[in-house]
Amino acid sequence: MQTSRPTILVIFGATGDVVARKVIPSLYHLFRSNQLPAMFCVIGFSRREQTTDVFRTYVREMLEKHVSPSLEATQVQTFLNLFSYTRAELDRPEDYTPLGEKLGFIDGEWKTCANKLFYLAVPPSLYNPILNSLSVSRLTESCGEEGSWTRVLVEKPIGTNQATAEAIDEQLAQLFKEEQIYRIEHYLAKEMVRNILAFRFRNDIFEPVWNAQGIESVQIHLHETLGVEKRGAFYDSVGTLRDVGQNHLLQLLALIAMEKPSSLDPDAVRDARADVLTHLKPLSPIEIASNTYRAQYNGYQEIVGVGPNSQTETYFRIEAEIDMPRWRGVPFILDAGKRIGNLKKQIIITLKHPAPCLCPTDGHSKNRILISMQPDEAIKIEFVAKKPGATMEMESRTLDFLLRPKDSIAQYVEEYAQVLLDAVRGDQTLFVNTTELKAMWRFIDPIVEAWSQGSVPLNMYEPDTNESIES
Ligand code: BG6
Repeated sequence: MQTSRPTILVIFGATGDVVARKVIPSLYHLFRSNQLPAMFCVIGFSRREQTTDVFRTYVREMLEKHVSPSLEATQVQTFLNLFSYTRAELDRPEDYTPLGEKLGFIDGEWKTCANKLFYLAVPPSLYNPILNSLSVSRLTESCGEEGSWTRVLVEKPIGTNQATAEAIDEQLAQLFKEEQIYRIEHYLAKEMVRNILAFRFRNDIFEPVWNAQGIESVQIHLHETLGVEKRGAFYDSVGTLRDVGQNHLLQLLALIAMEKPSSLDPDAVRDARADVLTHLKPLSPIEIASNTYRAQYNGYQEIVGVGPNSQTETYFRIEAEIDMPRWRGVPFILDAGKRIGNLKKQIIITLKHPAPCLCPTDGHSKNRILISMQPDEAIKIEFVAKKPGATMEMESRTLDFLLRPKDSIAQYVEEYAQVLLDAVRGDQTLFVNTTELKAMWRFIDPIVEAWSQGSVPLNMYEPDTNESIES
């Protein structure tokens, strides 16, 4: 794996929100820390009518908005010089000719066949036309020099259900081999989430109890204080389950439940995650009625883009089970929501009581392992200790591991810098493979379907409270 070969990043949908908030700041971070290839440039490829100069001004504004105050004028100018712009209707194959010419021109100037990384930062409805046009224009074919490649980075959501996800995936597979396809899952790129592998498999104290004999339940929470913001129309068409459940929460579940991979090789890790996901037990209609819950916050329907009688959930809870000997009978409780009272992105693993238990008669708290991504990045182990003094009185205490102070984390920059860097150097560990993608939809589809038929009532909750999670 290497980042030193000349590389051209082509961003489809270059003036969209993902690029403004996540990609530009992350590229700047990589640029400042000297992690980009020495020969590197970015082509914005979008519908908006504008020149390269106007595009660079836009990039500067986004930097000022999302990276400031740590901007340094000369550095910013050098960074902006990496960017150029080509205008296109993304669904018109003939508009890809100028892009091909530009790529050829850069190759000529650099006297090499540069790597080409195509980043689809567009709504899923555009995947099909873009992939078609890429195919017709043959831009995905490498210019053949030894070691040079073309790759594609795909943003979530991939599809809206299993069938549409598979259709996109098949189309991707016609143009690219699996090792060229990078399906983004930014949760996997979170520092604390990457730590789960180390925590589980590089320490000897956890694995012996990491199974149905030792663990009573696993809870995975993604409680956001943020609302839907300006994404009303998009959000209303997907809901929380598909926005973060189908991907982020299921990936966290896979990391907690996976078997030890045979090595830290990207394929070994991805296969281990995929194995768990394919063993998620699909819920029957009766289980969906009893083991799932959905709710919407009051006021959601007034958001621009949201339907006046919208039945879309802004909170959900699901009890899942993994059909593997290691996990049989252990509930995995996943929940996520917008405008919840307290910010909490956390995994809670509750251990079983030993039998017999030397517990006081009024019971005692069970051991819990808390893996927290927000508000702080920490692992906490709750245990019971004897209180100092003459009696055998017990109390609950905590062993704390704080990864780093909160203010050192810039939202998204770290994750997207990792995503871009890994795509450039060819490490697919933190990207979802095709088996994972299908398995996640296979589990989610029946729930979405049953909910859309009203088999589970939509409850309401007061925003900025914990009403939904306590219900
Ligand atoms: C995104 C969802 O994928 O994940 C957002 O579209 C959500 O709705 C976000 O807010 C949560 O990610 P993070 O990194 O802020 O926890």
